[in-house]
Order: sequence, then structure tokens, then C-alpha cells
Amino acid sequence: MRFGFRKFGSRKRQATREQVDIIRRSLGDKSVVLVGLMGAGKTSVGRRLAQRLNLAFTDADKEIEAAAGQSISEIFAEHGETYFRDGEMRVIARLLNNGPQVLATGGGAYMNREIRNNISEQGISIWLRADLDTLLERTSKRNHRPLLKTGDPKIVMQRLIDERYPVYAEANIVIQSRKVSHDTIVDEITSALKQKFELDGAPSS
Ligand code: S3P
Repeated sequence: MRFGFRKFGSRKRQATREQVDIIRRSLGDKSVVLVGLMGAGKTSVGRRLAQRLNLAFTDADKEIEAAAGQSISEIFAEHGETYFRDGEMRVIARLLNNGPQVLATGGGAYMNREIRNNISEQGISIWLRADLDTLLERTSKRNHRPLLKTGDPKIVMQRLIDERYPVYAEANIVIQSRKVSHDTIVDEITSALKQKFELDGAPSS
């Protein structure tokens, strides 16, 4: 019986390796770009996805902070949101030249048409879609997101859902982010990526 399990485990590992090979070959220089609202899990899932695919992980917000020498809260407070969005556009355009990689973007980035165009040219976009309660539960644990301080977080988040979900829906792949392990979400993303590349007729051998 134990032998049977071990055999199953090695078959699963082999299947995972094959899946990763197909994805890496098909990606070429493109980035896997995670989009979605604050609390959707872009950074935590993105890190694990990068490990699975053996790619570098980049967090656009962290890169914006490094480029500005300030935290995102400080940028919003000192210069305002328009200034932040401008920097966000430039930093993401630069980062997209570093593919292949897994790139997590801030929740507002995909709302910018130019960023969306750049992502569709140089990446495969994955929307981590989550419901209001999940987003609120996750974002309530920390207090570093300026947009959620502009009013009642539940009202702000619902407004962002209404405004942004129709645009996030343009992403190449949609994955429901929910209360399951990060590994489960990574499994779903890699299956969806493989399926997409096979449908698109990208090289698979
Ligand atoms: C924002 C989301 C944040 C950050 C900034 C604005 C947004 O990133 O870019 O606070 O407009 O939704 P996360 O989605 O990683 O929290």
C-alpha cells in the first residue's frame, strides 16, 4: 500500500515537472503578472508561484518604494495619488522588460490602460478574484494601505470591486482566491497556464 502511494507521489512530481517545463518554454521572455484587489493574495501567491516555476519574483509596489525612497503611504501623503500612479506606470513598464518572472502588481495598476497594454504585450495576466469578506478579513490585519484609510474600509472596498472587477475581467486567466492553501491556488494557476498555452498552440515539446 505504502509502495502504491510512493509511486503515485513520483508520478505527480513527474507531471508537475512536465507542466512547469511546458509553461517555462511557452512563456519565453514574458512575465506572469498577478492582478487583483488589495488582499487578493498577489504577493503571497506570487512568491510561491515563482518558486514552483523556478522564476524570480518581483513585487511592483516594493520596486516603486525603492525607486522613490519612500513607502507607498508616504508617497500618497506627500505627493498624492496621481504622482504615485505616474511612478507606478513607469516602474511597471521597466519591470516588464525583466521577464520571465512572476510580477505582482498593486491593486490599481491594471486600471491604467497603458499598463494593461504593456502587460498584454509582455506578459500573461492572472486575476486573483476574491469576495468582499475575504478581502476585508485579509486587509484588516495590516494598516499600510492609504486607500483603505479614506473611509469605511467595507464601503471603499465595495466601491473598488464595482469599479475594478469589470476591468480585471480582461485578464487572460481568472482564479478564485479563497480560504484554501496557497499551494492549491498555485496548482490552479499552473493548470490554467498550461491549458492556455496548449489552446494557444504555443510550443509544448
Ligand atoms: C492600491 C493597492 C496597493 C498599492 C497602493 C494602491 C490600489 O497594492 O499599490 O496602496 O489602488 O488598490 P496592493 O494591492 O498590493 O495592496
